[in-house]
Amino acid sequence: MADDTATLDRNDPELARNPRAMFKLLRDHAPVMHNEEGPRPGTLVSRYEDALEVLRNPKIYSSNDDAIDIGQKRPMIPLQLDPPDQTVYRKLMAPLFAPKVVDALEVQTRELAIEMIEKVAGGRACNFHSAVAEPLPSTVFLQLLGLPVSRAAEFIELKDGIIRPPAETEAERTAAVQATGEKIYAVLEEVVAERVKERRSDFISGFLDSEVDGERLTPEDVVDIGYLFFLAGLDTVTASLDCIIAYLAQNPEQRASLAKDPALIPNAIEELLRFESPVSGVPRITTEDTELGGCPIAKGTRVNVMIGAANTDDRFMEDGDDVDFHREVNKHIAFGAGAHRCLGSHLARMELRVVLEEWHARVPDYSLAPGIELEYSEGLRQVENLELVW
Ligand code: HEM
Repeated sequence: MADDTATLDRNDPELARNPRAMFKLLRDHAPVMHNEEGPRPGTLVSRYEDALEVLRNPKIYSSNDDAIDIGQKRPMIPLQLDPPDQTVYRKLMAPLFAPKVVDALEVQTRELAIEMIEKVAGGRACNFHSAVAEPLPSTVFLQLLGLPVSRAAEFIELKDGIIRPPAETEAERTAAVQATGEKIYAVLEEVVAERVKERRSDFISGFLDSEVDGERLTPEDVVDIGYLFFLAGLDTVTASLDCIIAYLAQNPEQRASLAKDPALIPNAIEELLRFESPVSGVPRITTEDTELGGCPIAKGTRVNVMIGAANTDDRFMEDGDDVDFHREVNKHIAFGAGAHRCLGSHLARMELRVVLEEWHARVPDYSLAPGIELEYSEGLRQVENLELVW
């Protein structure tokens, strides 16, 4: 989950489009920076080593539900629990996301991608976000979780109501997020109650049947997992596709290299996940007074790990601000690190690869529509006005 304190001036669209100069400034001059400005003061962590230090020490840097308020009435499982409690849930959930489970979904994901792409490929222009980047992962995800795909538009609006609430002030934001959260809980409680009565072949049924060391998840646990999934699963792959296609539309040589040699696509995905970091930051809260990179941090401080800044840190990677599809080693943290590293990374990578393969097979040569100034949302970097021409 992202925390948008990562953006220093929320109203500057150029900073959202290209935050890398700001990242470098922070890394070089204020790698651990207390930011008292804005509605949610906290500490920004921008260097790769420091980011790992935070993410790998959940005892000091907790992910509990004080770290961020996104309308949850109970901690989201497993994200807002710390080990060892979180570990039990991870064990229960991991088999559902294993590579062989994901591999089995590739054929149907490809069919869906082809269907969506072919609707627009015969023309000369489309909004990639609304034609492919939003509907494809949402459909895959809703089918998987067991929510009705026919209600996708309603669910996307609810998820946006949490991640991008229509609010001017912090009080308005809190109220809007809580009201939307209630609606999401209502949807999940209804579906979980249905599955308690009758199982289907979906994740919600799978969670209800999961067992580790004789422990079973309760229906309330499954709702609390569903709440996280609703937000994590509906938004992140969309944001990644937006960022990747927006980059390629503006970099014709690299786009042509992928279209010519699809074997480069997996590497290109890793490199663009690193460079773009669609989930730009993740929140933690300190459980004791501590110190990072020589900088004291008081107990109870909200810490934002700036994933985008860490991923472009040239202390960790040579020429971190360059995009190179031929990098051999790429230990980016676009999926996080440590105990909470993304459970959905195999699924996300499969979806991204399938879309990039099928899109470039049909629309190899595209660019941004003339005059378009891309608008990146904060925190989770979606690009709704991704207008392409070819
Ligand atoms: C390219 C797409 C994705 C990106 C960039 C991404 C990124 C992340 C990041 C950075 C975290 C760590 C959060 C933290 O440490 O606070 C995370 C956690 C998580 N992600 Fe993803 N994610 C993606 C796709 C998905 C998908 C498709 C799913 C589910 C279907 C998913 C499920 C989760 C879950 C359950 C966690 C929490 C794991 C835990 O707390 O143990 N993610 N993701």
